[in-house]
Amino acid sequence: MTDIARSRIYPTVIVLLLFVIAAMAYKFIVAGSTQKAEDGRTAVLLAPGERALMLTEMRAFVAGLQVMSDALSRDDMKGVAEAARKMGTTAARDVPLSMLGKLPLGFKTLAFSAHRGFDSIADDAATIGTPKHTLGQLSDVLKKCAACHSSYQVKGATTR
Ligand code: HEC
Repeated sequence: MTDIARSRIYPTVIVLLLFVIAAMAYKFIVAGSTQKAEDGRTAVLLAPGERALMLTEMRAFVAGLQVMSDALSRDDMKGVAEAARKMGTTAARDVPLSMLGKLPLGFKTLAFSAHRGFDSIADDAATIGTPKHTLGQLSDVLKKCAACHSSYQVKGATTR
């Protein structure tokens, strides 16, 4: 290969590789693995085990909300903080990296903000400690549950 040919091919290869990396990063971070659902929502395509993990976490939310509202009705702010903390960002650590890459950015953002909302509830229950303040925060988190459910669905897919 002549020097001139080499000086043309190398930059082309580098640009192509950068393009491939950018496309992979876009797919992993932004797009995820989705398809349009029949009801107009976006269906997230997950392996059956991943779908089960997600739905288990969802049911844990409902169970946690029950414990939290029970504590709230008794002005037990320590109980509120404990229940909320279990649904906070630490709960999201169990999500495997391979599954994270299948979740679109909008989904990840909403999920993280719901978990962070529970952390704020736990923080404030320990410091501010008024049930009315907690109820306002809870309403904000529930808005996120509703927003995500109206935009996304989850489908078990074996080949993704
Ligand atoms: C980032 C998105 C997102 C957030 C936030 C979210 N969910 Fe979900 N949830 C889903 C998806 C997607 C499904 C599956 C729905 C479907 O396929 O129709 C689901 C399903 C569920 C289910 C059904 C579980 C089952 O076994 O079928 C429950 C209950 C639930 N969510 C509760 C909640 C509650 C309570 C909150 C808020 C504290 C919440 N979710 C927040 C995305 C979310």
